[in-house]
Amino acid sequence: MEVTADFIPPMPPRAAREPTAIAGLLRARRDVLSIFPADAYRRQVFTTRLPGRLILVANTPEVVRDVFVTRHDIYQRKARFLEDALRPVVGGSCFIGSGEDWAERREAVSPPIHPSGLAQFHPCFVEAAETCAESLARAEGPVDVAAAYAAAISHVLLLAVFGKAGTAAEARLIAETFTAYQDAAEVVDLLGLMGLPDVFGWLTRRRARQLAAVLRGRVARLIDAAGPDGGTPLLRALRAARREDGSPVLAGERLLDEVVMFLLAGAEGAAITLTWTTMLAALHPATADRMAAELPADVPDLAALMALPFTKAVIQESMRLYPPVAVFPRQATQPHRIRRWDIRTGDIVLAVPWLLHRHEALWEAPDAFRPERFLGEAARQRPRFAYMPFGVGPRICAGAAFGMAEVTVFAAVLFRRFRFALAPGFTPQPNCRLALRPKGGMRVVVTRR
Ligand code: HEM
Repeated sequence: MEVTADFIPPMPPRAAREPTAIAGLLRARRDVLSIFPADAYRRQVFTTRLPGRLILVANTPEVVRDVFVTRHDIYQRKARFLEDALRPVVGGSCFIGSGEDWAERREAVSPPIHPSGLAQFHPCFVEAAETCAESLARAEGPVDVAAAYAAAISHVLLLAVFGKAGTAAEARLIAETFTAYQDAAEVVDLLGLMGLPDVFGWLTRRRARQLAAVLRGRVARLIDAAGPDGGTPLLRALRAARREDGSPVLAGERLLDEVVMFLLAGAEGAAITLTWTTMLAALHPATADRMAAELPADVPDLAALMALPFTKAVIQESMRLYPPVAVFPRQATQPHRIRRWDIRTGDIVLAVPWLLHRHEALWEAPDAFRPERFLGEAARQRPRFAYMPFGVGPRICAGAAFGMAEVTVFAAVLFRRFRFALAPGFTPQPNCRLALRPKGGMRVVVTRR
């Protein structure tokens, strides 16, 4: 097997030593990754204590399985700061809900995006990818592909939910508003973690609330324009979900919650994955050439695309090194014991894919870019629960197959057609608040192959 020579792509420097809990959380407001010292990449479980609250990091596959699968009943609730950060925009959506309401919503949103029905979205993937490629081909000078992909992938989701009414221009507005919203809302909130109201954050929260209202308003108008019985099969399927008594599961604000969530959760992970994959292609031209050689000149059907081993392995390795959701914080809803630690109700238990995916006991040369890990026998030998770009357990991403499909179609269009190089003087910097994005975007020069 041909092995890519070791190449260590950009990562933030590791903290010299573990910060105190408070200093660590203050730093985490700007970048979660900056708080982990070198031994966080070796330890199985570690904790930090805040006044009144224990924070435990589940850093080994057995404990991850215990928390996210076996004891889902105790740890299904996302941490409060995460719920608070997203509620203004996605309301009570299944992305942040818990308990029976979550189960009911999850059951309603999953069938329309089930892997068995993905072929119907292939034209949406191709149309949005072609529109994106055209705009990249027209660009003069460096382009920020992080912004370009955010708009393009929002376009996929708008096309899937609203058909032709979901234009590229509307997608760009939605993506820009969401980015501004995240800048205003997305902080690892120290006081929130301690369970206190964040009295200082009211100004940014007010801005976030205004942006959330703009976003929800735009999407509500699209739903209204589709009419009560109209719209795409996806929108009709969401509306058609029924309870045992025949009442609709999703109507009014509840339908709006889930559609907004689709547009955001569905776009964010895929756009970020494409962004990091483009950076890797730019920094490692041998990989880019090998992908280009594998990709057919005309985009084939989805089944053929998903069977392209090397392109798929590059995408998987990109999500290992740069998991779009790099931190999964949960709050315990009952007392529990994890190894020697007593977890009390309200304590925070985290899985950190950034650490798990680079753990020294789980991966050979963990920081090296090696797509071959995901090919053949090597892929089969990987331990379960060591790789979780889509999460694990009952809350695993409902759109994982949809996400992989859209990323692969974009890869097929873009990497076959273009060479990417980093813009002169630009250095990519991974930065993790709630999602793992490049600070300041991803500026690249695009040329035709
Ligand atoms: C590459 C693309 C994507 C990535 C990396 C991704 C990743 C994730 C992650 C990490 C979670 C949270 C899991 C947890 O907290 O335990 C999640 C949840 C979710 N995602 Fe995705 N996602 C992607 C694409 C999509 C798409 C395209 C859709 C819909 C069309 C979607 C719908 C959802 C939903 C509904 C949830 C909530 C699941 C629940 O809490 O029950 N995602 N996703």
